[in-house]
Amino acid sequence: SENTMDEDTRQDLRARGDRFKAWAIERTVETSAPVQLLELPLEIVSKATSSRPRDRSETPEEISVSLNPSTVIKTTHVTVTRTQEIEESRMLLPVVSEEQRIMEVINHNPCVVLCGQTGSGKTTQVPQFLYEAGYGSLGTDNPGMIGITQPRRVAAVSMASRLKTEMGDAADRVGYQIRFDSACQPETAIKFMTDGVLLRELATDFLLTRYSVVIVDEAHERSINTDILIGILSRVLKVRAEMSQEEGSTTRPLKLIIMSATLRVSDFVENKTLFGVSPPVIKIDARQFPVTTHFAKRTSLKYVDDVYKKVCKIHNKLPPGGILVFLTGQGEIRQLCSKLKKSFCKTSSSEYTPKVRLSGREVTLEAEDVDFGNDIQDEENSEAEEFEESSSDEMLGCTSQPLHLLPLYSLLPTSEQLKVFQAPPTDHRLCVVATNVAETSITIPGIRYVVDSGKVKEKSYNRDTGVQSYDVKWISRASAEQRSGRAGRTGPGHCYRLYSSAVYERDFNEFTMAEINRAPIEGTVLQMKNMNIDQVVKFPFPTPPESRHLREAEELLSCLGALDSDGRITELGQSMAAFPLSPRFAKMLTIGGQHGCLPYVISIVAGLSVGSPFLEEFSLAEPLDVEDEKQVLTNEQLCKKEQRKRRRKEFFVAQQQFMKLDPMSDVLKLLSVICAFIYSQDKQEFCEKFFLRPKAMEEIDKLRKQLTEIVLSNSPVALGRNGTYEKKPSLPKSVQIKAIRQIVAAGFSDQAAVRADLVPSESIKEFAKGFKKGIIYVVVARSGQLETCLENCLAIVHSSSVINCKTTRQAVPDYIIYQELVRSSGGSDRVYIKPLTPISAQHLTILAKSTPLITYSKPLEYPRPVVSSDGMSRECMVVPRYGVGKGWE
Ligand code: CDP
Ligand code: MG
Repeated sequence: SENTMDEDTRQDLRARGDRFKAWAIERTVETSAPVQLLELPLEIVSKATSSRPRDRSETPEEISVSLNPSTVIKTTHVTVTRTQEIEESRMLLPVVSEEQRIMEVINHNPCVVLCGQTGSGKTTQVPQFLYEAGYGSLGTDNPGMIGITQPRRVAAVSMASRLKTEMGDAADRVGYQIRFDSACQPETAIKFMTDGVLLRELATDFLLTRYSVVIVDEAHERSINTDILIGILSRVLKVRAEMSQEEGSTTRPLKLIIMSATLRVSDFVENKTLFGVSPPVIKIDARQFPVTTHFAKRTSLKYVDDVYKKVCKIHNKLPPGGILVFLTGQGEIRQLCSKLKKSFCKTSSSEYTPKVRLSGREVTLEAEDVDFGNDIQDEENSEAEEFEESSSDEMLGCTSQPLHLLPLYSLLPTSEQLKVFQAPPTDHRLCVVATNVAETSITIPGIRYVVDSGKVKEKSYNRDTGVQSYDVKWISRASAEQRSGRAGRTGPGHCYRLYSSAVYERDFNEFTMAEINRAPIEGTVLQMKNMNIDQVVKFPFPTPPESRHLREAEELLSCLGALDSDGRITELGQSMAAFPLSPRFAKMLTIGGQHGCLPYVISIVAGLSVGSPFLEEFSLAEPLDVEDEKQVLTNEQLCKKEQRKRRRKEFFVAQQQFMKLDPMSDVLKLLSVICAFIYSQDKQEFCEKFFLRPKAMEEIDKLRKQLTEIVLSNSPVALGRNGTYEKKPSLPKSVQIKAIRQIVAAGFSDQAAVRADLVPSESIKEFAKGFKKGIIYVVVARSGQLETCLENCLAIVHSSSVINCKTTRQAVPDYIIYQELVRSSGGSDRVYIKPLTPISAQHLTILAKSTPLITYSKPLEYPRPVVSSDGMSRECMVVPRYGVGKGWE
């Protein structure tokens, strides 16, 4: 429907959203007086003792308890007819026996936090309670939809489907929306969606007028989206409450329910900037059977192989009960599944010859025989040890019982995902191989054995480059507990951890840190601005980053042209926000499509992100330690020195190969290396020959491919004529080399330096004389002025830079752009800059137009950038189409 909206409507919506936001945020900052709340105990601890069928007569037909009118929504009860089977299974859920209490607290409070173990029925039941209480009903008194957000798409779709089944005659009132896929109708009353979808809705409808309740599920995961969502919703609640009390208002108050699988909710509850007062916390005690945890003796390195062995052993030797395996991603899951399939899932019986060869004592672990307790044992002294020792690889796949093998990961088609909820065929043992989604989002019935790799694929960030990647990491101890808990839902169970208790104690964090505190702040601020949240410093984060960092991030973003002078996102900023990268690199990629430079720019971004691939022991410059020369050296030392000299010479010759494109630019040298690596036949040999770190080169190449994918998905035509992308970039033409320099400068226009001798300041010149060696530059501060503090402003060209290379007869460039400023580790306060790209003053002025840099010729009067009357467009080719240089087109 958004596509059919005309441009004017869209702009109007956006402007309205903006106004509301500014209004809401300002207002809520003023009104520090807490919203008046009902006197309810802050913690309502309930124990699910018996599954008590609900007595309908207890529920009043009309709920309109009115002590605090701003929080009460007048609703009319709705009856849902479910099948007998569904009703019975619902009765077993701890949340259902607490319906009345939960609804009472929800009715009387604008925001409620609900904690309950995975599988207690939060996600599937609470929306139904609300629906029955009349929250989702439509009509003249329409209070609006019930929205439920999930961090994962799998969960949004599968939970919606489950609810459809449960709600019987009201199935068509359930819908879902995820990115690129929506199943919502006008009559949808309960809407499941990813948190990203609701954030996008907020950008156009800040008051969420279509909703009466929003449930933020899986809040314990603390994704950036969840945190931002809770921050915004805290404001929407207040604004809706205030508006509902205005004379003749038709607006109704909004309810917020935060649901968590853990009790760690203090960031939402105790943070007074969010809701003014602490929202009540409802804890649901779920019945949980004891789970025996077995640690491995040694931590597995090839965990997929070890998982395979473990599953085989469980399947061969242990009593019935489903197996749930935790791995990190689709690749691993498929690998394991195909191995297991070969062993256990032979379809034709002639093909399959069970050979039961149990060496040693046969171990039968009956649930009753085993001393189940929630104690954690090391494998050494556990009953399972014998089971461990008596087994060998030979007997893998020797049981006659077939395995009902099901993978579960987010990219799996929905119909496949939903299979995990169906009972396995008779005589089959269920084995689900899942990602983290089975940790708390999805409860699979009938699991008795959990095999935990201890790993998770986590979004991680390089603080310096802002590059996001998914890395395989250790889970937290809290996650490990959650995973073992999955084995104790239907009866006593076992959890096999493929890591030792020592590793668990030493290497595992207690909790997973909130993503917002791990991610580089510039990227987050850019994303928030892209959601039209203009005042990030005042934003009510559950765990706020330091406001100084937020301000610095805003400054950098305006420097890059991503924000306008009012701090609002520009068109350029919007394009940049599409890249999961540091905003600098995002800008380079955004404007990198000019002159066919994109493949080169992608390579450069990959290279700069990973860091220099050159072996550091050699550098192009002479060693700086002059002292050495004076010492009398022993033969051995002389020999070593000779050897080193020879290696250095070789290194130098090798490096020369890469300096042909541009003898004065480190960045172009890096580009040459990357491209040559792509063409090289034997990568190992190539790295040896040219003094490169193979690991770094591989990483660069991997990132280059990933970035290419991202760019292709953002703008398929950007990467080349006919939309086809050349896998191997050809040699750039001279016009492209010029453009590349400018594109790099556009990403780092706030990191410029001017050669010290060009600065007409006697004191600086005097000071520069103090440096005996090296080429000295004066760093231009972001304000466009020269740094006032002399110690801070003089920087030496790092010894690894090609600018130091003495054989080139080229003049040392006047202006350069640097990526990194490093302080020497020794006692001296010297500052080095690397890697460098020369840039002309004119280009710098144009490319950094959005920054005050244009004024930097004023105070010190060094070579004033020349701006001719007909513009620089002929010279400066990369005048961006995006905002920055509008006057130059
Ligand atoms: O959200 P929470 O973890 O508290 O529990 P839930 O997801 O609402 O699940 C409640 C129960 O419904 C569990 O026993 C699930 O196994 C079951 N369920 C199901 O049988 N089929 C589904 N598609 C989803 C849930
Ligand atoms: Mg849930």
